[in-house]
Amino acid sequence: RMLKRQMACRGDIHRLNAPLLAIYESLIPPEEERTKQKQLLALLEKLVCREWPKAQLFLYGSCANSFGVSKSDIDVCLAFNEDINDKSEILLKLADILQSDNLQNVQALTHARVPIVKLKDPATGISCDICINNVLAVVNTKLLRDYAKIDVRLRQLAFIVKHWAKSRGVNETYRGTLSSYAYVLMCIHFLQQCRPAILPCLQGMEKTYNVMVDDIECAYFDKVEQLSNFGSPNKETVAQLVWGFFNYWAYGHDYANSVISVRTGSIISKQEKDWTRRVGNDRHLICIEDPFEISHDLGRVVDKFSIRVLREEFERAADVIQYDPNPCVKLFAPYVH
Ligand code: CTP
Ligand code: MG
Repeated sequence: RMLKRQMACRGDIHRLNAPLLAIYESLIPPEEERTKQKQLLALLEKLVCREWPKAQLFLYGSCANSFGVSKSDIDVCLAFNEDINDKSEILLKLADILQSDNLQNVQALTHARVPIVKLKDPATGISCDICINNVLAVVNTKLLRDYAKIDVRLRQLAFIVKHWAKSRGVNETYRGTLSSYAYVLMCIHFLQQCRPAILPCLQGMEKTYNVMVDDIECAYFDKVEQLSNFGSPNKETVAQLVWGFFNYWAYGHDYANSVISVRTGSIISKQEKDWTRRVGNDRHLICIEDPFEISHDLGRVVDKFSIRVLREEFERAADVIQYDPNPCVKLFAPYVH
């Protein structure tokens, strides 16, 4: 494996650049989708405000972190200034309010891991999930969005990786593979550790943004417009980075000992986090530290079966890019495990 890792990328890799960029471009949501999302958010704000004048609505997830592809659902957080003990009660009330305003398929899922109300807006055709007081998600959404502003190659790489993961059936947390959020963190980590680095470690810099969420301090450098030349010493193209990403996860990452950490901009040891053995359902077979909830391993959903699927898919992707005559088709060939 290590031998393979040393291997240089195929000489004609630059030929993949234009087709990969074309795929990226085709996934970007058109401006009219943004407009429709704002329209729906405004409607929800109007309805919520009547019942809870002090509550606020925030977009989070892919519709707000700039990693959303065309036709994604939107994630909304209804934030109250106080702790809510009984979210079910609020969600049922919310479902009631929305139902009576012509929204379709309104459903309160009060027993889900993250309890939500789901709905579909007939005017815009957009589906939406509303959760309560999930402020950490709103803050980590801002962190991802800020990273994306530094170097366009992050957004390009992450779109391609997410598209690959959805095509290959490895973006399904309920089946033991990884969330989109985890894949974006893997991309950020990869661009932090390459040399010269393409991304800085924002949480290791002067703290220009600082909020407390419960007892977690979320602080980092968010004046990212000052960093727009940060990645320019590194001239690698998207094709090289996509190859590098899959090669890293196929042959370069030390699954036995390493935790990737966007918070520190580097690798930390499983030992240090005490993530060396299974505790309850957390097996720590691939370790991705959440940037703010640092006790949270986003790889905890991965089990001994799905880790094999994941690693085989990383190897397949690296090998397809390295050897296949038509890698842009092969890479995204639909597959169900
Ligand atoms: N999130 C989180 N912790 C997780 C998973 C998700 O905090 N373990 C939050 C993040 O703010 C993330 C949002 O929930 O941005 C949505 O997660 P996910 O559905 O994985 O990502 P999306 O960016 O919405 O991707 P997709 O386009 O696949 O919907
Ligand atoms: Mg989402």
